Amino acid sequence: MKTVLLTGGTGFVGGCLAESLIRSGVKTRCLVRPRSRYEGLAALGAELVSGGLDDPEALAKACKGCDTVFHAAGKTKVSRSAEYFHANVDGTARLVRAVEDAAPDARFVHVSSLAAAGPSKPDAPRTEDEPPEPVSVYGQSKLAGEEVLRVSKLRWVIARPPAVYGPKDTDVFSFFKLASLGLSPVIGGVERSLSLIHVSDLAKGLILCAEAKPGSLYFLADPTPYPLDAVMACIAGVLGRRLRRVEVPYAVVAPAAYASGLWSWLSAKPGIFGPDKLRELRQAHWTCSAARACMDLGFSADYPLAKGIAHAAAWYQANGWL
Ligand SMILES: NC(=O)c1ccc[n+]([C@@H]2O[C@H](COP(=O)([O-])OP(=O)(O)OC[C@H]3O[C@@H](n4cnc5c(N)ncnc54)[C@H](OP(=O)(O)O)[C@@H]3O)[C@@H](O)[C@H]2O)c1
Repeated sequence: MKTVLLTGGTGFVGGCLAESLIRSGVKTRCLVRPRSRYEGLAALGAELVSGGLDDPEALAKACKGCDTVFHAAGKTKVSRSAEYFHANVDGTARLVRAVEDAAPDARFVHVSSLAAAGPSKPDAPRTEDEPPEPVSVYGQSKLAGEEVLRVSKLRWVIARPPAVYGPKDTDVFSFFKLASLGLSPVIGGVERSLSLIHVSDLAKGLILCAEAKPGSLYFLADPTPYPLDAVMACIAGVLGRRLRRVEVPYAVVAPAAYASGLWSWLSAKPGIFGPDKLRELRQAHWTCSAARACMDLGFSADYPLAKGIAHAAAWYQANGWL
């Protein structure tokens, strides 16, 4: 890997990946939108190409001379569902076309999501061989984005992370916020389980994917799935808080999700919570098996849960988020 094109470098996942690549001496070119906060990338020494996934000229320029592409740009929250498809499918298609034209031999690592595969059965983490059954519009858009790669001529590898956490994350951060208030919500009266991955482990796994056999699909996750209670207890332990379980019935969560979705639609401001997130919340188990990634790529987690949570909490505290 000599010259890399990275999309989504201004985001949570892409930002960490950019840091890992640049620190290991890889020449890293980032596609950045003009209004995005790219100062951090510039300070790291990334080469910047101005433009977005909507801009074929910028894409052509960005792809030129690359031997590896990491596609970490995407929408995880929107104010209107169509935006998921616009960014995660149409944007991916434009990037794929540009790479096919300008760098057809490049390795292409596509950052998808466990949401593309869908929820898991109790005590049976999802494997790559199971047929995908996304339950949310977000998940459907991520699956359709994968399909763009599958029908392309590129040497692609698809990575599906579960929930990603770590410094700068604003989504799993809500667990930290709740734990800091001493609250452990039990939504819909069901016991839940989930897979997680620390963002540094994800960056490491994505770099390993660049050397994987083209046409491969991997779940990149901490190999151990956890009950949600154990995750909350771990966060509370690190923060020195005692937790109180609070039952929150769907009858309360559902109207809140619709109200939040309506507000997001009216204000055109993407929110983390809404009807699409509710579809995911109605599923109790979001676990996946990292066995294939461990076996084929030699992937392992440097940040198992307790270490990862302590690392993230320290960052939130040092930066005044908690
Ligand atoms: N975070 C998770 O828990 C998680 C879990 C599984 C999978 N993923 C996947 O990981 C990827 C990155 O997620 P994230 O959490 O890092 O999201 P994020 O922090 O919201 O970052 C998204 C990135 O994508 C860029 N982007 C969005 N639309 C774009 C467009 N039209 N043209 C160019 N760039 C565009 C954003 O650029 P701007 O700065 O210009 O907005 C930003 O750099 C996504 O594909 C997501 O589906 C994330």
